[in-house]
Amino acid sequence: MLLCKPERYIEQVVNDLTASSYVSLDIERKVLSMDVALLKQSFEMVAPQKEAFAHSFYQRLFSYYPQTQQLFAKTDMKRQEGSLVATLAMVIAGVERGDNLTPALQALGGKHVRYGAEADYYPLVGGVLLETLEEYLGPNFTPEVQEVWSQAYEVISTQMLEGARQQIA
Ligand code: HEM
Repeated sequence: MLLCKPERYIEQVVNDLTASSYVSLDIERKVLSMDVALLKQSFEMVAPQKEAFAHSFYQRLFSYYPQTQQLFAKTDMKRQEGSLVATLAMVIAGVERGDNLTPALQALGGKHVRYGAEADYYPLVGGVLLETLEEYLGPNFTPEVQEVWSQAYEVISTQMLEGARQQIA
């Protein structure tokens, strides 16, 4: 099939395959090195206050980066706050079971292109997530907890951005 295509097209396919396998290898390595038990344990400490946690996350996001607020102009924020916590729970449960989360996360990233979530916003959101965790975990926000959440966020955002990139292509 590919042999009937112009050289430029084949080059593009090879590039895409190489780029996506680099992404998945790197992600695979990160997932394997992650202390999933610690991730889950720290998430469970926040879970009883999940509504307040999610509310505080968005308040912080909008106060630090007011430019992000316009993206949520028509959003039902109560529902959105629920989706944030549900997504984190889904990712933790998935990683624990060893599920392949790539398709779901890439699809979510693809949808975020339509929401106006630019790639530059992802690290900002990650920083706000970590600060909110610190606020709610207090002394339980140890350097190890910080490390495992940065790894988890990196895995999630890398997959979402890969989905966004494929959406744009
Ligand atoms: C790891 C990072 C992120 C996760 C897990 C996440 C998760 C979600 C989820 C579950 C939804 C619900 C709607 C759906 O299923 O499509 C959503 C919607 C949305 N997200 Fe994110 N998101 C992330 C990053 C971001 C970033 C960086 C931005 C940009 C500031 C952003 C802005 C939005 C907006 C504007 C919506 C649409 C709200 C609406 O329905 O009106 N998200 N996100």
